Amino acid sequence: MTERESIPDGDTLMAPAQNRPETMTTAGVDESVTIIIIGASGDLTRRKLMPSLYALYVQRLLHERFAIIGFARRAYDEASFRESMKEAIKSFSRLPVEEARLEEFIRCLYYHSGGLENPESYLKFKARIRDADRFPANRIFYLAITPEYFLTTIANLDRAELIHPVHEKSWSRVVIEKPFGRNYESARSLNHNILTHLDESQVYRIDHYLGKETAQNILSFRLANSIFEPVLNHRHVDHIQITAGETLGMEGRRGAYYDSAGALRDMVQNHLLQLLCLVAMEPPGNFTADALRGSRAQLLRSLMPPSPGEMPAKTVRAQYTAGFENGLSVPAYLKEDRIAPDSKMESYCALRLTIENWRWAGLPVYLRTGKRLKKRLTEIVIQFKQSPLQFFKTVECEGDFCDLTRSQPNTLVFRIQPDEGISLLFAAKRPSMQFVVENVAMNFSYRQTWHFSLPEAYERLLLDVMRGDSSLYTRSDQVEAAWQVMDPILKAWESQPNIPLHTYTPGSWGPAAADDLIRQDVRSWHNSD
Ligand code: BG6
Repeated sequence: MTERESIPDGDTLMAPAQNRPETMTTAGVDESVTIIIIGASGDLTRRKLMPSLYALYVQRLLHERFAIIGFARRAYDEASFRESMKEAIKSFSRLPVEEARLEEFIRCLYYHSGGLENPESYLKFKARIRDADRFPANRIFYLAITPEYFLTTIANLDRAELIHPVHEKSWSRVVIEKPFGRNYESARSLNHNILTHLDESQVYRIDHYLGKETAQNILSFRLANSIFEPVLNHRHVDHIQITAGETLGMEGRRGAYYDSAGALRDMVQNHLLQLLCLVAMEPPGNFTADALRGSRAQLLRSLMPPSPGEMPAKTVRAQYTAGFENGLSVPAYLKEDRIAPDSKMESYCALRLTIENWRWAGLPVYLRTGKRLKKRLTEIVIQFKQSPLQFFKTVECEGDFCDLTRSQPNTLVFRIQPDEGISLLFAAKRPSMQFVVENVAMNFSYRQTWHFSLPEAYERLLLDVMRGDSSLYTRSDQVEAAWQVMDPILKAWESQPNIPLHTYTPGSWGPAAADDLIRQDVRSWHNSD
């Protein structure tokens, strides 16, 4: 490969495909494929899947022979499905929509109406896709459905012989949305049952956080640079914290699902733990999907929840009250649509875990996430230890007026979203006739460095499943290991009456108890102003 050719992903980031330099190779798909979205009448298809497939199409990353079939119960005909997807793409596309390109794309969409539990509808579907010219033999089944249908659907696909056995030339891959299980036992049983129908290599368990450009960059940051990796260990790092704050509450019909999940299952078990894996895992032996997934799984296996006795001090759960979010009045969690009025489900949680392995030796990890918080903000903070001697006074100044303040340890911040970037906070001598220092930042910002919009996580993940690359998908052992860390917390919350369900006001950073959780270790949350 020449140097120019070795940067194929550049073009996945560029908007107008026709301006692409000829010397760049594409990062696209080299096999034709039929993508079947099961549950295609839902929100995920409208908001994420179709706009992402369209974005891949206009960037010329899809194979020239592709078909997309929506499969759902709703009695759409092809024309109305196409019309509705057109509207969805216009509303949610990250790239400018060109009418002519959209029309071309829409012509590759089809619809099949059928019940998920009805084996007949799969047989009819099979007869329908026999037309090999229109529907390429390689198949991706995307299960955009609620978890209670995962297994029935896979069993029905298998029974109808819609899934090619692994040794055949044409392949079948099944993408499974979250939540994958409710606890360790149910995830293990789901894995076990799914694997009676599919080979692990055919299963793509999605965690869209792994598809975020900023999450993928964590490994490049660690492994493409030589100066950071040597200090990422317990000798230099004081602790890690991850925050995923959202301002949204229970929009649309979300409450029905959310009230059976809560913040821990909805965000921590998957997204936050995967982010933690990226910053704390061992470098893989090579950059293959299995090695990468193995390193992530290994990290999860060394992650320790608090002991039962520590649960009240090291875990916090809470629900939002009525209040104001960005100036608008919002209802309390318990008054939201489809939430049980006496629900005990948490819309916020904060935890202190530790990583017990050679590199991290018991390092504390603080995680917090919640709905209706002050900001939409996801960031990973690595706080380093203080320098051994504090020679200098630290000041905080406004204009010429300075106050003494605490010296800040060096802090590395991965800003996952919004305002994507990385900052390194350090102390610099403030220009003056004295030796005082001020806390400043070196800042890398995606927006200032690259003037194109970042690809949607789903674009990358959909492309990867077409390419047969499962690096950014979770393997069965990873999902189970993550549940093994969450299970003791869920059990404690169910069984220990001394762990209260706190409340917090919308627009805040959560309950005071979450500040106490970190303050008891003489630390504080980053970015909580
Ligand atoms: C989903 C959760 O997986 O992630 C939602 O179910 C949450 O509750 C969403 O809002 C957050 O994703 P993002 O990409 O907007 O941070």
